[in-house]
Amino acid sequence: MGKFPEFINDKANAIAAANRSKGVTGFVFDGVDRSQVCFFECQADGISKEHTHDYDEWFCVVEGRYTLIIGDKKMPVGPGQEQFIPKGVPHSGEFTAGTRTINAFGGKRAEREHNINGTLIAISRRRSTRSYRPDQISDAELTAVIEAARQAPSGHNDQSCFFSIVQNRALIDEMSEGSKAEMCKIPVDWMAAIGKNKNVHIYHHAPTVIIVSSRKNAVSPLPDACAAIENMLIAAESMGLGSCWIGFTKFYFNGPESYRKLEIPEGYEVHYGVALGYKPQGIAQKPPERKSEPYRIIK
Ligand SMILES: Cc1cc2nc3c(=O)[nH]c(=O)nc-3n(C[C@H](O)[C@H](O)[C@H](O)COP(=O)(O)O)c2cc1C
Repeated sequence: MGKFPEFINDKANAIAAANRSKGVTGFVFDGVDRSQVCFFECQADGISKEHTHDYDEWFCVVEGRYTLIIGDKKMPVGPGQEQFIPKGVPHSGEFTAGTRTINAFGGKRAEREHNINGTLIAISRRRSTRSYRPDQISDAELTAVIEAARQAPSGHNDQSCFFSIVQNRALIDEMSEGSKAEMCKIPVDWMAAIGKNKNVHIYHHAPTVIIVSSRKNAVSPLPDACAAIENMLIAAESMGLGSCWIGFTKFYFNGPESYRKLEIPEGYEVHYGVALGYKPQGIAQKPPERKSEPYRIIK
């Protein structure tokens, strides 16, 4: 019996026992709209009990034989052959040991053994990126990041945030120098030291910087901004982009001139910036350690 390649048989994608027939292992990949593609390997002869789902199914046999049963009709499917099962049609099946199939489902068919998905992976992989490739991200990537920000929750559904997207290298440098000049004046040693350090670029030379402001008279302007920022960072990671939440942004925004330059609407206040760009190749992100269990479950 052949095997699917290792990257398919990765245990992170293993289908939970409750979602597969006895004697079968499976690996699942997710599409949009909850559709899924599953790769099944049958280690022993077995059956798939009769079931129905409210989405279409298509499958193709790679090796071995899967007999599809609909009503009293038995349809043996061999290597290279395919079958389509419309939604709502009760079906069952019989398979022989050594059978491998690829099944696509128009809806969510399988849970993973370990409860992990693309979103959770992006959340756990995200790390602050402090070095960027100089080439600009694509407009499609930028649009996806901004869309993630727009979908963030907001207090009272005020949707109070405004995003100034800066892709002008000179302006990004000016914002960095402007923040540093203000930080030099602060009577906090570590901040003043950053301000004076010629090697520091507040935005880590990222090619895109998003300045996040929100409406001052909204119910919760600061939490709104933070929710939007976190969505952007996770969206960026999900597309393989590097990002960093930049708190030093605010120092540059100490007067009307900077607000005008960034076209920030009247009545809005800048909170933070987000640096965005491609991660440099070959530099591993070292995750800062997380506190082991900073939570309690109270039932
Ligand atoms: C409110 C806030 C402000 C931050 N400001 C900066 C900043 O100005 N520059 C920077 O490099 N990182 C900044 N960070 C990123 C944190 O340093 C970083 O999230 C933390 O060290 C944990 O590392 P990780 O993001 O890689 O998990 C900020 C994060 C937050 C939440």
